[in-house]
Amino acid sequence: MPFYKQMGKIPRKRHTVFRKEDGSLYREQVMGTKGFSGIQSILYHHNPPTRMIRSELLKDCRIQYEDQADLAPRHLRSNYYTDLTDAVMGRHYILGNEDVLIGVVNPTKKMDYFYRNGDGDEVLFVHYGSGKVETTFGTLTYKPGDYIVLPIGTIYRVVPDIGESKMLVIETNSWITTPKRYRNPHGQLLEHSPFCERDFHGPERLETYVETKEYEVRTKSRGFLHSHVFGHHPLDVVGWDGYLFPYIFPVEDFEPITGRIHMPPPIHQTFEANNFVICSFVPRMYDYHPEAVPTPYYHSNVDSDEVLYYVKGNFMSRKGIEEGSFTLHPSGIPHGPHPGTIEASIGKKETFELAVMIDTFRPLKVVKQAHPLEDKAYKYSWI
Ligand SMILES: [Fe+2]
Repeated sequence: MPFYKQMGKIPRKRHTVFRKEDGSLYREQVMGTKGFSGIQSILYHHNPPTRMIRSELLKDCRIQYEDQADLAPRHLRSNYYTDLTDAVMGRHYILGNEDVLIGVVNPTKKMDYFYRNGDGDEVLFVHYGSGKVETTFGTLTYKPGDYIVLPIGTIYRVVPDIGESKMLVIETNSWITTPKRYRNPHGQLLEHSPFCERDFHGPERLETYVETKEYEVRTKSRGFLHSHVFGHHPLDVVGWDGYLFPYIFPVEDFEPITGRIHMPPPIHQTFEANNFVICSFVPRMYDYHPEAVPTPYYHSNVDSDEVLYYVKGNFMSRKGIEEGSFTLHPSGIPHGPHPGTIEASIGKKETFELAVMIDTFRPLKVVKQAHPLEDKAYKYSWI
């Protein structure tokens, strides 16, 4: 995040002697991005974070994409997946490309290992369910509508509360940030931004574990999953400070930007990463020009693919979709509202829809295993 946070105990000066009560040293780790020219944090561990006792290649997790399909709108119903799993191993990937991997998971089980993504930042959008994410930086508590942003290399474990639960999973090969146009040169969010620093929540508490039995950390890197076993608890940090840390942004705190006539998709933008953006369609007032058409016009994604994940409410421009649906409208052909929805929207004052949009600047591919989710009639539903 573009602001500074400190938790737990840290020495007065960085890179100086910092001792435990028994006189031995805490182990300092700098976690830096972009070759130490991006944001970073400094963590103080009980044990060296390098002291693994076993390393093993667990499995190949490279994605199998379908061969080229006809260029057409796609609709995939993720409610097809009902298996109850943990938050990482149970992920079902649906769409992806070289920059982003999109899927869902129904986490009801506590992970019996820790995990880190070694390739890029992750975003978990909580569709429903609650729980906590325990990380090296401390614990975050989540609820429906929360975007949980986990920076690359963060060791974490998701512990869901009892009950049903579903998350939209967005894995990147880069870094998640708020849009640059909403930040001043110092990184502070500007007045016209749909959110401010008060809406972003880092870990609430730092829990430090000093147990010395075996703990597994699974690491995803370069298309493979690896197992690293440590002789100490990986959440052994007594303090940290810096700009790099996991955080939650509740979508309910996204303040929609509205106007007299239809406002374009960038007003919904929430995050950006390399070659894609994440936008939030939230409950909001419709356009207030007396002759306004609230439903969007037909439009061409000349150079981006558009994915919508439908969370809640009636989506004004589309029929036949359900909560948990994904639609993919590829670049190269126009898309727009379903028949009758333009007329139906005229004179409407507000919408209660909630959806997450992911626009990518390189074409997305459908994951082979996601074929059973497909509504094959969708592409002809504008007739
Ligand atoms: Fe669109």
